[in-house]
Amino acid sequence: MKVDLYKKTAKDFKSLPNLEDYEKTYKTFEWNHMRHELAWFNGKINAAYNAVDRHVDTWRKNKVALYWESENGTTKQYTFEQVARESNKFGNILKSFDVERGDRVFLFLPRIPELFFAFLGILKIGAIAGTLFSAFQEQALEDRLANSGAKVLITTTELKTRVDKIRKNLPDLKHLLVVDSESFTKSLESVEKDLTIAQMDADDYAFMLYTSGTTGKPKGVVHAHRALLQEHMTAKWVLDLKDSDTYWCTADPGWVTGIAYEILGSWSCGVSTVVYGGRFDPKRWYEILQKYKVSVWYTAPTAIRMLMAKGSDMVKQFDLSNLRHLCSVGEPLNPEAVKWGIHAFGKPFHDTWWQTETGAMCLVNYPCLDIKIGSMGKPFPGVKAAILDDSGRQVKPLVEGNIALKPPWPSLMKTIWRRPQKFESYFTNDWYISGDRGWEDKDGYFWFVGRADDVIKTSGERVGPFEVESALVEHPAVIEAGVIGKPDALRGEIIKAFVVLNKNYELRISAKGGSASSRKNEKEKLKEELSLYVKKHLAGHAYPREIEFIDKLPKTRSGKIMRRILKAKELGLPIGDTSTLEEY
Ligand code: WT7
Repeated sequence: MKVDLYKKTAKDFKSLPNLEDYEKTYKTFEWNHMRHELAWFNGKINAAYNAVDRHVDTWRKNKVALYWESENGTTKQYTFEQVARESNKFGNILKSFDVERGDRVFLFLPRIPELFFAFLGILKIGAIAGTLFSAFQEQALEDRLANSGAKVLITTTELKTRVDKIRKNLPDLKHLLVVDSESFTKSLESVEKDLTIAQMDADDYAFMLYTSGTTGKPKGVVHAHRALLQEHMTAKWVLDLKDSDTYWCTADPGWVTGIAYEILGSWSCGVSTVVYGGRFDPKRWYEILQKYKVSVWYTAPTAIRMLMAKGSDMVKQFDLSNLRHLCSVGEPLNPEAVKWGIHAFGKPFHDTWWQTETGAMCLVNYPCLDIKIGSMGKPFPGVKAAILDDSGRQVKPLVEGNIALKPPWPSLMKTIWRRPQKFESYFTNDWYISGDRGWEDKDGYFWFVGRADDVIKTSGERVGPFEVESALVEHPAVIEAGVIGKPDALRGEIIKAFVVLNKNYELRISAKGGSASSRKNEKEKLKEELSLYVKKHLAGHAYPREIEFIDKLPKTRSGKIMRRILKAKELGLPIGDTSTLEEY
């Protein structure tokens, strides 16, 4: 296979990278030697204190921590001292609602400054922060809030209406705090600005995020305060954050990227950070890059491909000369996108691979190393990676297998909330099995092949087929549904649903009579209705863009839907082993 290499030259470096020699560092690296990068209280730690407050005792006190801009153009900015103080206020308000160490406090907020202050405030008092995408609808909210047993939910007037509908099913949820309500703004004005920071054990829980697997409801991945060590080191060595940088991570904190590299790891490096609260829009994104003189940019492949679709002429209308380092995460970064980046911005996107469960970057491309275009790069120092066969044995270079990591590493999840067996199921023969397949080349670069399971990645979002199937069968027209990820040039994958209709419902359609074409029309309308139904009940981003009605779903003898077969059929591939199939 021909590999395109991006060889770095002097023009790629405006200054020396923070990590100058990868190979040498990898050989001698120990996490314990890096503890001095963080501030400790006699062996205790607090990730939020480390991200923000410790800078207040330094010259960074009056440095801008957050440049915030909303979709309608409102701007605000906060220094490290102000962020420390605002988050203290949230901590104090939560204390006044009897929030204690270990309690779960969830955030259902758009990307507004309060989201960042509240997240930090929760950690500062030793409670566990949970984040929820503002695209979530009732079903997604109920699953997560019920499983976590959240005691407090912080939201806005607009989003609250979705919570009101399910509140009766959430006995543990004691308080709803509405940040734009009169009473809340009043209490923010009067509340104490100083706060005693909770001194936590490194292994104490700090935050949790729900993510999807193949089966069952979303699972609560729990991270400890200790994760900050890896988030900080990767922000320093991979994002290469320096004091002179202005940094923009386009992720939402509903996603682990937004927590690790928009709040914790990046601020821990003391960098000024841009947050844009609005939706994706190519022109607006370039305006943000230009206006804030962004120098380090962390984004995702679907966004890059969408920018690519607008062409590089649009890029040329803006002064992006401050950009010095580009990174990408969340789904395969195809070589065309890297090459377009080089053409449009004069530098390559550096791909990084990790997962909600790994808590921080694990396989990455470094400023100090050449890039094999299309590869995810090499393991971060302190992280051992390998390719294993299905029985857990390491395979030779160039052989495809399961991407695995050797525990421990600081940001590895602590548990799956209330599902310890699920947590255990990630590990085989002392290896963490990622669920991704790939291979390693002779130079130690890792290459992504695909998921080993049915998990869907659409526009970088991880969607469990089971959640979408469950939402579809709630609709009276649907008996059963099988959901797959269908390859898509722009979004990586789109969600496609195969739906078995309720016969009575179908009859209603044909009973209306009419021509064959009007019946077809009815079916198309029903497809739209089903898509919208999932959008309204589950989440704005997790709905099927394509629906096909079929008579019967392929199933195992035990009744499990064989999504693998639906996918093979969709792609026109061989169906493979069908020995466990019911009849088909
Ligand atoms: C899955 C993890 C990654 C942080 C955000 C949370 C896919 C991720 C890459 C990449 C190919 C990637 C994998 C992984 N993925 N990064 N650089 N190349 N695939 O991510 O929602 O937990 O999803 O995203 O399939 O398992 P997540």
